[in-house]
Amino acid sequence: MNNCGISRWDDPKVINEQLKKLTSQPIWEVDDDYYQNTVLKYYDDLCKKSHAVYEESQKYIPGGVQHNLAFNKPFPMCMERADGAYLYDKDGNKYIDFLQAGGPTILGSNYEPVRKRVIELLNECGPVTGLLHESEMLIAREINKHMPNVEMFRMLGSGTESVMASLRIARIATGKKHIIKIGGAYHGWSDQMVYGLKIPGSRNLLESHGIPGSCFGKTDEVRPNDLDMLEKMLKRNRFSGGTAAVLIEPVGPESGTRPVAHDYNKGVRELCDRYGALLIFDEVVTGFRVALSGAQGYFDVVPDLTIFGKIVAGGYPAAGGVGGKKEYAQLMAAGLATGKHRAYVGGTLSANPLSCIAGYTAIQEIERTNACEVAGKMGDRLCDGLKELIDRYGLPFVAYNQGSIVHLECTGAMSFDFSSMYFLKSATGLLKHKDMMYVRKDSMERMGAAYMANGIVTLAGSRLYTSLADTPEIIDEALNRFEEVFKHVKKTDKGLL
Ligand SMILES: Cc1ncc(COP(=O)(O)O)c(C=O)c1O
Repeated sequence: MNNCGISRWDDPKVINEQLKKLTSQPIWEVDDDYYQNTVLKYYDDLCKKSHAVYEESQKYIPGGVQHNLAFNKPFPMCMERADGAYLYDKDGNKYIDFLQAGGPTILGSNYEPVRKRVIELLNECGPVTGLLHESEMLIAREINKHMPNVEMFRMLGSGTESVMASLRIARIATGKKHIIKIGGAYHGWSDQMVYGLKIPGSRNLLESHGIPGSCFGKTDEVRPNDLDMLEKMLKRNRFSGGTAAVLIEPVGPESGTRPVAHDYNKGVRELCDRYGALLIFDEVVTGFRVALSGAQGYFDVVPDLTIFGKIVAGGYPAAGGVGGKKEYAQLMAAGLATGKHRAYVGGTLSANPLSCIAGYTAIQEIERTNACEVAGKMGDRLCDGLKELIDRYGLPFVAYNQGSIVHLECTGAMSFDFSSMYFLKSATGLLKHKDMMYVRKDSMERMGAAYMANGIVTLAGSRLYTSLADTPEIIDEALNRFEEVFKHVKKTDKGLL
């Protein structure tokens, strides 16, 4: 397969065993001496300008940052320059960037050919006119070229909105009510979807404050990688309005943090067909990253609808979209021609020429440079190097990857699973597990701070995205820096119930 970033697929059973072992022992983290005298000292001595911006930000921005991912321990770094594989903070410190904006910049940060095309467009028509621009057609046609099953595409402002639109379409198309998602998966922050976030079985326990319980009335979650549980849910729902759609991230929830078997997606497709539900692939992370043809190309599974985000706008703002078979996508058609059964979508700045041209150019560049494959190889190299270090230092950490999506679990904060406990344990038992998860999350962020102090930016200390800009030399340099951190890791007595 051309331009595919995944060269191997780990058995989820093996990874889950390793993760279970990790969470069944106390936390291992950088020791206090190293944390106080090296990590925090770095922030105190060398990040004074970042700190000053953060101090001022706290007066005007809730929590001091405008984006959840930007909140890092002990305080957020203020970035000033981005270039390929590197970020530079306001104090001039240079970092190897494995956050890559949370995934959109598979070509590397601030990639020149996309930037140039965006500037040309800005000179021509500015960022938005409110009327049709050719770039809107170009990006839809380009996506169709690589994902033929996305016969039609409507560009929206974010992944969150696109998920909302897809659920509406599914209910209109099937006349059914329930949406089944996979426990732990993130599909944006719309009311119906802030359910079962991060931890399978957590339902509305973790993040759903401020959302009326009735919003979750038709949202169900099932355990990742468990087709039996999915089938039971589909059967159950037949008696309460049926299932309109099963919504999944094809590499597993949270960008594959909870890996799935290679044939899992085919199994979900079969079940959707059997029970008359639409299959929606959330390819916000995987679209144009794991392969130019997306995870649907890699797994050779045809979803009814696909959700796009991140790379779809080439790393530029307003990144989202829904596409799929004509009969479904047509339900979002603009104008009155659609008649009464229309899935209403909108957004003043949705599908602006800037986002469309950036996405169109980025997809063309991903094809030209073979970016998915290059970034995937770098992901393999990074993951293999991390595994070797973990073994050499006798650490319980777990590293695995799906091409350019690399997971490094140091505390297993994301590996809890409440789904089988819900009916078995008391509410207090569940809450204890929840507290323990936060203790582990805290430690994960401490590891993230140690990586940052050694010049590596990660996503919350546990996920790393590689890009076209990475080279073997950059990866090897990053591994030297990880080694510097791992040398100072010790077992603690924290993290057990
Ligand atoms: C799989 C997945 N779906 C949906 C979303 C939401 O996208 P957005 O942040 O553009 O609203 C995200 C965001 O990280 C995501 O990872």
